[in-house]
Parts: sequence; structure tokens; C-alpha cells
Amino acid sequence: MSTSTANSGISGSGTLPSGALILAAGKGTRMGTDSPKALQTLLGEPMLAHVAAALSPLFPERLWAVVGHGAEQVEAAFAAPVPTRPALNFVRQTEQLGTGHALMVSLPDIQHAGVQRLVVINGDMPLISTDMMRRILDETADADLALASIILPEAGAYGRVVRQSANGPCVGVIESKDYNPAVHGPETGEVNIGLYVLKLAAVAPLLTKLTTANKSREYYITDLVALAHAAGLRVQAIVCGDNADLLGVNTPAELIRSESRLRAHIVQRHLDAGVILHQPDSLVIGPFVHLEPGSELSGPAHILGHTRIARAAVVDAFCHLRDTIIQAHAHIQPYSHLEDAVVGPRCTVGPYARLRPGATLEEAAHVGNFVELKKTRLGPGSKANHLTYLGDADIGPGVNIGAGTITCNYDGRSKFRTTIAAKAFIGSNSSLVAPVHIGESALVGAGSVITEDVPDNALALARGRQVNKVR
Ligand code: UD1
Ligand code: CA
Repeated sequence: MSTSTANSGISGSGTLPSGALILAAGKGTRMGTDSPKALQTLLGEPMLAHVAAALSPLFPERLWAVVGHGAEQVEAAFAAPVPTRPALNFVRQTEQLGTGHALMVSLPDIQHAGVQRLVVINGDMPLISTDMMRRILDETADADLALASIILPEAGAYGRVVRQSANGPCVGVIESKDYNPAVHGPETGEVNIGLYVLKLAAVAPLLTKLTTANKSREYYITDLVALAHAAGLRVQAIVCGDNADLLGVNTPAELIRSESRLRAHIVQRHLDAGVILHQPDSLVIGPFVHLEPGSELSGPAHILGHTRIARAAVVDAFCHLRDTIIQAHAHIQPYSHLEDAVVGPRCTVGPYARLRPGATLEEAAHVGNFVELKKTRLGPGSKANHLTYLGDADIGPGVNIGAGTITCNYDGRSKFRTTIAAKAFIGSNSSLVAPVHIGESALVGAGSVITEDVPDNALALARGRQVNKVR
């Protein structure tokens, strides 16, 4: 495909109100799992989120997905629009009678919203990019019905693009099951990728002419191509080279093929932007992750969700991060696991640390090995370096949490909070039974079980006194 954008807007179709429909109602039988194909993940994000993220910048507010198999599950996964789940309008296709039928059941909502030029895209094409989509739109501005194709060495299970003559106009798409070289001509390797641009005023009336008279007994969206040609509409098949990013995902092997390609693209994009990635071949970075130039990561590691890593922050190998913010000059040491956490500037975490949802480390705080935090703020410069659980706690600045400290935040029914004021010192192997408050600059003796508040500056000892007896 050429990269020309010259005719963008010239034909007038650039000004038609546009929208997009993602076909995602299918079960994905060949995937072999019970969950809907739209929710199968690549780099930690559902397939549907990848497609939606590519299209949503071009069709804000006018992006639909038609769902059917596992519809409740799919809709629930997109219920809250967060950075990793672009906002979608849903249409239900209760019986999956084919891609043409999926379009039929969706059109009333879409036309009601005023859309006149509609992109229809298979939901199993997760590597489609915004740029590629924009170029296809620009280059097909004059067509009533456009489709995108690629050239493969073997057409396999894809629909075959049929042209009047080599490089001549496209006259139809014939599904692989229905393809007969004696009737349709010799194979050319040009296949339909499942991306269409339709001017609805011209194409919508043809939908009533779709039938199930084919090997699959389904309504094929692809039959619209021959119908449009026969009706004298402007049909355009645009060849997108042999771009393997546009292959469909139908089987586990195809899912992993696409995931591997996407992983490599994302790593390269970050390298090009000035992020230092050691062992890049073993880094898994999700599509919604933001890495500032000058941040430094080592593989193998998983950096997923809407994680953000600031310049001069370092993430060592064997770490797993999801939805986490790492601020400048922080250092995450190997084998640490962080989810929905915030790590302030110049903090150190790990090795072998676990920050669970709601863990917030303020500037220059330290969390060391085998320390777990959940819904806990650790104040500036505070330290919890060894073997500790801090849950539902609010810890001020300059606090030292000794090895083996446990906040006992749960009594079997409810959770309670622990607060620790500035510069307190918690001796090793202490249990803080919540709700409890440790005052400023207080000292808790090692091995204490603290059940009552400790005043500022006090020394609290809550343990059996040592007795030495003659043997
Ligand atoms: C389809 C195309 C084929 C093309 C290929 C590219 C048709 C008839 N064939 O075949 O020409 O080469 O994609 O990958 O369209 N879906 C629904 N409702 C349905 C059936 C399917 O929403 O009733 C959705 C599926 O969830 C999927 C997409 O449509 O995301 C394509 O369906 P699929 O069954 O994968 O079509 P292919 O056989 O791959
Ligand atoms: Ca498919």
C-alpha cells in the first residue's frame, strides 16, 4: 500500500460522519477455550482492547462492537473506560449467523447515530494500528465499498479476492470453503483481511440480498463485494502488501504469533524513543505502558497495564509490574512484583518485594526483601527492609519498620487500620494489632504485640520479660 494521503478529504467522503464497528460476537471455536475470543489476551490486554485502541482515536464516540458469545463477560470487561479499555458502544448478536448478519443487527444503532461512512473490522485482527487504519481511510475515500487485502504465499482459510483480470477491478470475495478454481479462476494469493469501508447510503440496501446459500450456511459480509459490483457501485480492494500484522487470530498458535510480533514492535518503539532496554528479546511490555526516555529496564520482565515509568528509573530483571507508577530515579530490584502501586522518586524496592494494590511509597522510601504492602502509604525516607507485612497502614516520614513486623489488620471479619507517626521505630518481630496508633518518635521494643495506642516519644514493651534460671 502506498502511504499517500493526498486524496484525504478531497472527495467529500472525508467529511461524511464516520464510525467503526468491530465484529466480535464469534465464539472462536478454533481457539479451544471457553472464554470468548475477544477476551483472549495479547501482552496482558484483551484482543478487543487492541482493536478498539487502534480505532478509538479516529472514531471517538462512534465506535461499536458487536458481541454475542460471552457477551456479558465482554461488556463487563469494558464497563469502566480506563486507559486500557477504550470506550465502546455494544450491540448484541444473539445468534451468530455470520459476519453479514453481525453487520445487519448492528446497523440500526449505527445509522441512528448518524454514521454515513462505516469501517467494519474483524475483532480478531489485534495488530491493526491507527496509522494503518488512517491510510486505508484516506486511500479509499472515493469507494462505495472498499476492502483491504494482503498477498500470501498460500491463501489458506482466508476469503479469496477475485479480480476481473490481474490488477483489474475487484469483483468479489469468495470464502475458502466455497472457492472453486474452475469457476472463480486460479488462486492469486490475494486474500481478504476482514476490514471494510462502507458508504452506508449505497451499501446498506444490499444487505437484504445476502443469503445463506453457501458451504457454511452463514450470511457472509464478503458477499456484499459481488453485490456491490453487480449494482454498479465503486468497489475498491486495496492491497496492503504482505503485511503479517493484518493476519487474523483464530488458533492459539496464531494468537502467539501475533503477540510475538506485537511485542517486538513495542520494544522497538521504546528503543527508538530513547528507553534503555537490556535483553530486549525477553521484555514483555504492554501496549498501554508509558516509558519515559531515559528509563532503564532489563529483561526478562513483564511491564503491563497502564504502568508508567519515569526517566532515570531502573527496573531490574525478573520483575512483574502492572498498572504501577514508578517515578524518577526509583530502583526496582530483581524478582519484585508490583500491582496498582505508586513508587515515589528515589525509592528502592526489592529484591523480592511485593507491592499490592494501594501501596504508595513516598520519596526515597525503601522496601526490601520479602516485604509485602497492601493499601499502605510508606512516608518519605521510611524503611521496611526485611520480612514484613504492612496492610491498611498509614506510615509517616522517617519511620523504621524492623524485620518481621506484621500489621494484624484482619480479625476474621473486618479490616482495621494502623497508623504510625513520623520517626517511630518498630522493633523487629512486632505485631501491631489494628486498629492501633504508634505516636511520633515512639519506640516499640522487639517482639512486642501492640494492642493499645502508643503515645508520642514513648517506649512500648509488650512481651514476656526474660527470666534466667539456674539449670
Ligand atoms: C473472515 C472473512 C474472510 C477473511 C477472514 C480474515 C467472512 C465470511 N469471511 O473469515 O473472507 O479472509 O475473516 O481473517 O467474513 N463474527 C461475528 N458474528 C458472526 C460471525 C463472526 O461477530 O456471526 C466475528 C468473529 O468474532 C470474528 C470476525 O467476525 O472476530 C470474523 O469471523 P471469523 O469466523 O473469524 O471469520 P473467518 O472465517 O476468519
Ligand atoms: Ca477470523
